[in-house]
Amino acid sequence: MKAIFIKDRLKNTMLVSAALTLTLGLSGCIHDNETVITNKEASTAAKQNLAHAEDRLATVEQDVEALLEKMTLPEKVSLAHASGKFHINAVERVGIPEMWLSDGPHGVRHQIERHTWASAGWTDDHSTYLPHLTSVAASWDVEIARLHGQVLGAEARNRKKDFILGPGVNLARLPLYGRNFEYMGEDPILAAKLVVPQIKAIQANDVAATVKHYALNTQELNRTGVNAKPDERTLREVYLPAFEAAVKEGGVLGMMGSYNQYYGTNANQSKHLVMDILKGEWGYQGVLLTDWHVDINTYDAAVNGLDLEMGTDVADYQDYFLAKPFLEMIQAGKIPESVADEKARRILRAQHTIGMYDENRLPGARNIKAHQAAARKIATEGVVLLKNDIVGTKTILPLDKKQLKNILVLGPNADKKHGKGGGSSEVKSLYEVTPLVGLIAHFGDQVKITVMRARSSELAAIASDYVESRHWTGTPAWNISYFAESKRNKLIEQSWIVDSKFSAKDIGKNQHITMVAKIKPLMSGLHQLNVETLGDFKLKINDNIVISHQVSANTSKELSALTHDIELIAGKSYTFEIEYDGKQHFILGWNAPGELFASEAEYIAAAQQADAVIYFGGLSHGDDRESIDRPDMKLPNSQDEIISKLIVANEKTVVFLVAGSAVEIPWAEQANAIVWGWYGGMEAGHAFADILTGVVNPSGKMPITLPARLEDTAPIALNDYNAKESLYTEGVFIGYRWFEQQNIKPTFVFGHGLSYTSFALTNIALSAASITADEGITVTAMVKNTGKVAGAEVVQVYLHDVESSVDRPAKELKGFAKVFLAPGESKLISIFLNKRDLSFWDINSNDWLAESGDFEVLLGTSLDQIKLKASFNYQQ
Ligand code: BGC
Repeated sequence: MKAIFIKDRLKNTMLVSAALTLTLGLSGCIHDNETVITNKEASTAAKQNLAHAEDRLATVEQDVEALLEKMTLPEKVSLAHASGKFHINAVERVGIPEMWLSDGPHGVRHQIERHTWASAGWTDDHSTYLPHLTSVAASWDVEIARLHGQVLGAEARNRKKDFILGPGVNLARLPLYGRNFEYMGEDPILAAKLVVPQIKAIQANDVAATVKHYALNTQELNRTGVNAKPDERTLREVYLPAFEAAVKEGGVLGMMGSYNQYYGTNANQSKHLVMDILKGEWGYQGVLLTDWHVDINTYDAAVNGLDLEMGTDVADYQDYFLAKPFLEMIQAGKIPESVADEKARRILRAQHTIGMYDENRLPGARNIKAHQAAARKIATEGVVLLKNDIVGTKTILPLDKKQLKNILVLGPNADKKHGKGGGSSEVKSLYEVTPLVGLIAHFGDQVKITVMRARSSELAAIASDYVESRHWTGTPAWNISYFAESKRNKLIEQSWIVDSKFSAKDIGKNQHITMVAKIKPLMSGLHQLNVETLGDFKLKINDNIVISHQVSANTSKELSALTHDIELIAGKSYTFEIEYDGKQHFILGWNAPGELFASEAEYIAAAQQADAVIYFGGLSHGDDRESIDRPDMKLPNSQDEIISKLIVANEKTVVFLVAGSAVEIPWAEQANAIVWGWYGGMEAGHAFADILTGVVNPSGKMPITLPARLEDTAPIALNDYNAKESLYTEGVFIGYRWFEQQNIKPTFVFGHGLSYTSFALTNIALSAASITADEGITVTAMVKNTGKVAGAEVVQVYLHDVESSVDRPAKELKGFAKVFLAPGESKLISIFLNKRDLSFWDINSNDWLAESGDFEVLLGTSLDQIKLKASFNYQQ
């Protein structure tokens, strides 16, 4: 397919894709000169990724057209929809093979049955579980992003997949968002710069990358219904740049639409998002596919550029919107046949590009040592040292093997595996090294490691070790139903909750909830059930009422403590059903035989005697998971209380947080050492031990702000988080930009991360004092390792537009460079800023605009550690 682009600088640029106009009968739209790229350029980007396949790439367009000519209309339509959970049927008559897709962003998902969500039961479908994309973002390293993509691509290919469903580039606008762990932080430019090498590396393996979710997928609350309504400037400057880079620079072959609505219609069939921007301005030549079951209709989806429908929940694949209904609309003349041609053309183009018709297609590789080593490397590069104070004469970290005889290890993530959780991004890992196993491997017999689970002073919910029922993402969970009245006739909502406790979001409103879980005791014997409730509470076990408590008008405001002893048998499954009618909260806990948890007296005494304490806390996929947002930003299960006590008991306490989203850290001031490790993949334990013991010097930097309180974040402060619509009221002030604008101090700023060595930044220089038009400018500076150990620093370039006709953030990240330096070594870093970097999206001209005037370049090692400044003048 060829496209003709008519550029007219004077009249605003008119982009007319001749092919699209011809085939779809749709007109062109207005665009900026700078963003107009030709089809040739777009396919060049894809080809750069596949340098090994020059011959087949040379004839892709001819091959596609030749195949298309032989196909009947029903055959073309059959390529526009799934014929199974994760595949598109072959068209054997003309030699088109079956096409296979698979999740997901941090490893190839296990094989799922052709037509159900059940596991196919394969025993050889394990794969390398890579650190999550938050960890890649925290590395601030394009080489790490490339390595991640290389492993993912090779493994996908080895599992005979054609499209891998990742990477994800939605932004962490809301810390509560259940899927932040699958993406690359809160900054559009950081995500844009890192997604490009990932895509290229994936596709270099003859597999199509699929960037997701286009666009504005920033909450799970009512994820298919919520209506995203950002203004155009916010859309362009914040929520689209990573997708734009994926298309223009990464040459991505797949893009998955999002679940949410965009101005009242599903994003997959939004003319503005798809036809105007993605396929119009950006010249995207790949496939736009839906997420699994989205709210679309045949006509809009067909004419507004959706190419492939996946996952629709109907019994017969012919009932997909882009199956029989699509065929019938074409046959009835309501949609031109050229629309089906265009969709098939895109699928065939991707298929030819990735070598589905080439006998020399790369074979890929899986579960090899090199991939495991890559997983370890990526995880270490993403670890962020948040705090490391001097106690005595030395900083607490790295831990010195020679000085330590005994270490106490605690916390819910000490021995937890995360691969199998989270939702569609789950990975059936060949193995997974937990932090505890990693530490033991490091220290061997030289250091005694004591492991404990600490019990909080507050009543704790029944530990997940006993919960047999599962949320669909695989995590132990209770089913929760919300009713309109106490008789429970009218169901309002059904969902899942991690623990046997409940807190009303809307205190003061009567709640009528029922929670059900299967509970399996670990030891037989007397279990003492303990309840704290503000309101009516009933517990049934296997349909027998064991606790029933009703409050009167007089007692409704008092907290009641209830208790009941019951004999339960180990390994037997019991159905626990709780009914709560009240305005506030309840907790159901128990004292079970063979108590899993140490009392406060026990763990504090152990902490006092230890040479060092390591608490592995944070979140798990009970909290960070697809389909549900977190209820608050607190560490679950009284972790704050336990950590605060440990810090007092032993000043050499290291708090190591594993999480994919921000949490409140109220004890940050008191703690002497805090580390953030993300979900670190199969080698997490080794990687974390590498950092804790100084085998690897930490160099990660936060790709998200860590707010002190949830109320400090923009969506909550502006009351813009609900099930109905997201107005993106903060505009372009996402994440750190908001905190700076509002002058709110977070606990740790964006870009923050310490090292075991020190660095000096000197000699900032700009290539010119003033620039004009499209020139661009190069920023250089010297970085020196002034400490005693080798390490890496991430130099961050923020830009400040001194005077602007619109409200711009005080600092906008525009580039970064990660430099590895031996002690005493210096290197020159160089970062190029182009006209687009100076620009904002101007709603009057519907174009990027760099205004004449002064710009300040701020060079630092985090948002609040700006070490050097320089200014230049720009004239249009
Ligand atoms: C998720 C996608 C995923 C798809 C297929 C959906 O629920 O939103 O990210 O790729 O399922 O598993």
